[in-house]
Amino acid sequence: MGTDMSDQRTATLTVGNTRVELPIYSPTIGPDVIDIRKLYAEADVFTFDPSFTSTASCDSAITYIDGDKGELYYRGYPIEQLAEQSHHLEVCYLLLYGELPNAAQMRDFENRVTRHTMLHEQIQYFFRGFRRDAHPMATMVGVVGALSAFYHDSLDNNDPWQREVAAIRMIAKLPTIAAWAYKYSIGQPFIYPKNSLSYSENFLHMCFAVPAEDYTPNPVLAKALDRIMMLHADHEQNASTSTVRLAGSSGANPFACIAAGIACLWGPAHGGANQACLEMLREIGTVDRIPEYIRRAKDKDDPFRLMGFGHRVYKNFDPRAQVMKQSADEVLGLLGIENNPTLRVAKELERIALEDEYFISKKLYPNVDFYSGIILDAMGFPTSMFTPIFAISRTVGWISQWREMVVDKDQRIGRPRQRYIGPTRRDYTPVESR
Ligand code: SDX
Repeated sequence: MGTDMSDQRTATLTVGNTRVELPIYSPTIGPDVIDIRKLYAEADVFTFDPSFTSTASCDSAITYIDGDKGELYYRGYPIEQLAEQSHHLEVCYLLLYGELPNAAQMRDFENRVTRHTMLHEQIQYFFRGFRRDAHPMATMVGVVGALSAFYHDSLDNNDPWQREVAAIRMIAKLPTIAAWAYKYSIGQPFIYPKNSLSYSENFLHMCFAVPAEDYTPNPVLAKALDRIMMLHADHEQNASTSTVRLAGSSGANPFACIAAGIACLWGPAHGGANQACLEMLREIGTVDRIPEYIRRAKDKDDPFRLMGFGHRVYKNFDPRAQVMKQSADEVLGLLGIENNPTLRVAKELERIALEDEYFISKKLYPNVDFYSGIILDAMGFPTSMFTPIFAISRTVGWISQWREMVVDKDQRIGRPRQRYIGPTRRDYTPVESR
């Protein structure tokens, strides 16, 4: 980035006898950044930030998070307002194109997504190659990666039309792929999408309908699912989004990049936490067993962590968890299961943890995964479907960030360096003399 340094704010770094002036750039909101791109060339040193706790990897205009204030904006709109007043496909439009759609734009977008929900008929044979007890995330990684073998007319990253078609296809097809992974795992026939249903109603239909009888999606559950989709749609440069960007920086096709994001999301420290959290709450079982798990979570020698708690960025409440908690109360109340033992354990666990010095000092709060599983469980989803639902939702975030990266004129292949701590040069010795 060629910059006139005369009025440029700079940071001065002195390394031995070398002084380096590094440009400082301001954001719209949030911390300034120090551009270190010329550091190695001028001072022969690397920066060292193994988990990127202090590293901005890119410019982005999509999502802003303030971890100290517990704020999350999609294109400037607070997540609480969107969760209350918008719907997932409108949030998809906002994340993809940067502005809320007018009525005509929304109808056109919804129509384009609706007409891409079917899969090429041969793709169903991919599912049949998996064991029935394969985790749906394993199936999704495989099937999404294979989409590039079917949709040859949307693989060229340099063609705006192909980028657009790939984006619509993925937003549209991920629910079908996830639903079919679920149906396959329970030995039921695949249910095709119905164009008369909304995005979230369609997913419930493909998961829970059977050919033997009519099925009408419960509007309360469809609305709650749609809200969950909105809350998970994007989250700036999290691990899976960074994976998608890095894969995309090599020029890999969009389907391969999203498959890489799904693989990364699966980890229990990331999107897999919603499944791990509900399994943890079930293992705790009753309120009287909470202190034992709090003790284990604080024990350095015990690998156990409170799943659904803590966050790299949020050092205050995760605003999504707040909305999710309200939604859990609402949905379980409407379903007449407000006395759900798992919800009771979750609320008591949160209360105890938030009063505990360990969690207070480390600024550990419930995150997006703490309550989502309780709602998805109440909807009838098995825990193995929790992360696939996260992946459906996050697809629009991944593809929006991928597109932003592809069209960024400063974009180059991502290629970090390292601090080498291995052996110095040494000569090969024949096996006889070892
Ligand atoms: C998501 O990045 C994103 O935006 C992700 C996400 C998104 O939308 O994309 O928000 C989605 O992934 C949410 C996070 C879901 N993961 C979990 O709920 C798993 C449990 N949480 C932890 O594994 C952990 O909190 C992380 C992974 C979320 C964050 O890890 P960090 O930032 O690397 O924090 P850390 O591991 O350095 O922890 C700091 C301290 C440590 O203690 P000390 O070494 O300082 O003594 O806090 C402790 C940790 O041991 N700690 C926990 C804890 N989380 C952190 N102790 C007990 N239970 C926990 N959950």
